[in-house]
Amino acid sequence: MPVQQSESNQQGVPLVAHRLPRHIAIIMDGNGRWAQQRGLDRTIGHREGVKALKPIVKEATRLGIEVLTVYAFSTENWRRPSSEIDVLMGLLVEFLASETPELKAEGVRIRTIGDTARLPSAAQQSLAWAKQETSSQKRLILNLALNYGARDEILRAVNRWHAGAHGEGEPLTESALSQHLDTAGLPDPDLLIRSSGEFRISNFLLWQLAYAEIYISEKLWPDFDPAEFHRALQDYQTRHRRFGGLG
Ligand code: IPE
Ligand code: IPE
Ligand code: MG
Repeated sequence: MPVQQSESNQQGVPLVAHRLPRHIAIIMDGNGRWAQQRGLDRTIGHREGVKALKPIVKEATRLGIEVLTVYAFSTENWRRPSSEIDVLMGLLVEFLASETPELKAEGVRIRTIGDTARLPSAAQQSLAWAKQETSSQKRLILNLALNYGARDEILRAVNRWHAGAHGEGEPLTESALSQHLDTAGLPDPDLLIRSSGEFRISNFLLWQLAYAEIYISEKLWPDFDPAEFHRALQDYQTRHRRFGGLG
């Protein structure tokens, strides 16, 4: 049930429904450190990280958020050992197989951004299936950023625009570029959350984050829970967004 007017959360601070972000982007960072702190293999951290995502998607859906974009694998993450990459791709396939039915039942539509044609074929097949299965769901778009890099996305968009129909000498406009990005049709993120205390963007949504509010959480991603998600939303609701004007 979406928030009607206001509701108290675990901290007793109300969230105001009409001031919730439409689109939240999350950099799910810190899985490896979570595992290493416990003397475990980094891949255990990734497994716990996948588990942490589910309650956040549920809560975003319940709150009536329209789009949740999560950074799951960057264009730079190919620099990691192939054993770690294999585990990440396997976890993606597992996640889609086990969670898609419930996500569908909750009204979640699965989409992706990033150059997914370069993912292993098992991952591509699972994604095609999950997208098709959930294609008519309308409550929340769960947008998985996979083999995603903003520079790569912008270059692909510009090249697509070049290859498409437009007048000789016609300049590329802001709206034409937006419409050729992987996020075409989605509102820009209002709120960017990054876990694990890192203050950087790491090639995520460089164009779309132009006016996003930023919340850095000290929690490592496997520890990021709905209470921390609410803290980010409460913080967001204290911000004065001016978009360059006087507010
Ligand atoms: C985020 O956790 C998941 C991916 C980048 C795939 P990390 O694997 O980056 O974990 P840390 O940052 O090394 O702790
Ligand atoms: C960003 O995290 C990418 C994802 C969360 C998928 P990284 O761990 O790859 O980023 P850096 O290397 O710390 O900037
Ligand atoms: Mg990291």
